[in-house]
Amino acid sequence: MTRRPFIAGNWKMNTRRDSAVELAGQLVKGVGERSACEVAICPPTVYLSAVSDLLAGSPIELGAQNLYPAADGAYTGEVNAAMLTDIGCRFVILGHSERRQLMGETDAEVATKLQAALAGNLVPIVCVGETLEQRQAEQTEAVVEAQVRGSLAELDEARAAGVVIAYEPVWAIGTGLTATPEQAESVHRSIRQLLAEMFTPEIAGQIRIQYGGSVKPDNAVDLLGQPNIDGALVGGASLKAADFMAIIAAADAVCAT
Ligand code: 13P
Repeated sequence: MTRRPFIAGNWKMNTRRDSAVELAGQLVKGVGERSACEVAICPPTVYLSAVSDLLAGSPIELGAQNLYPAADGAYTGEVNAAMLTDIGCRFVILGHSERRQLMGETDAEVATKLQAALAGNLVPIVCVGETLEQRQAEQTEAVVEAQVRGSLAELDEARAAGVVIAYEPVWAIGTGLTATPEQAESVHRSIRQLLAEMFTPEIAGQIRIQYGGSVKPDNAVDLLGQPNIDGALVGGASLKAADFMAIIAAADAVCAT
């Protein structure tokens, strides 16, 4: 089963207009007309439009970092799937651990957002991952299983293959600590087994599972070389064009093998 590696940059709340436009411009130039792996960038919501304009004609795709799961209406401050597709988004990150921790986002809310994303023709990137305490208490698999089951609770089989999952151990995010390729692969493998149970082995074999958590140029090759790691969701290193390009190159090299 070949899954096209998928590298996405999550810029979080880390750019201004100038830096967003500059970074997107550098990446458009760097990636050129095509890359073997799929590439997306997820700027802050207010800069999506400006970046979208720059991506015209580039294979780099656009993603948002969140959405509100409702049609147009009285939802002050929120942005829905239709608005995101309207300005050129193809992906939306859902249930990032920062939103789970800071905004109290639950699996049930992620499940609702996932339905809204799919209904609005966005590809959801659903984030799951354990905290350090949970890992130390040997709860990693149970925590991740509950998150996957809860977040994908309303997902029907027909649409499951198109969803992307990002396994991001919370203790590895922004800390410089990375899961070893073996640690990450072990969780990815158990997620895929779980997906096979929830859907079918064929569908599980098509779902891409990204790793996220201090992915850098110097660890990308080893992580992406694991059989069940199908790409990366990159935070800090996606803010430097050279580093992000090096991670894309690592994924392209994996495609070539
Ligand atoms: P870092 O790559 O900065 O650890 O962030 C990972 C992440 O949270 C991506 O969503």
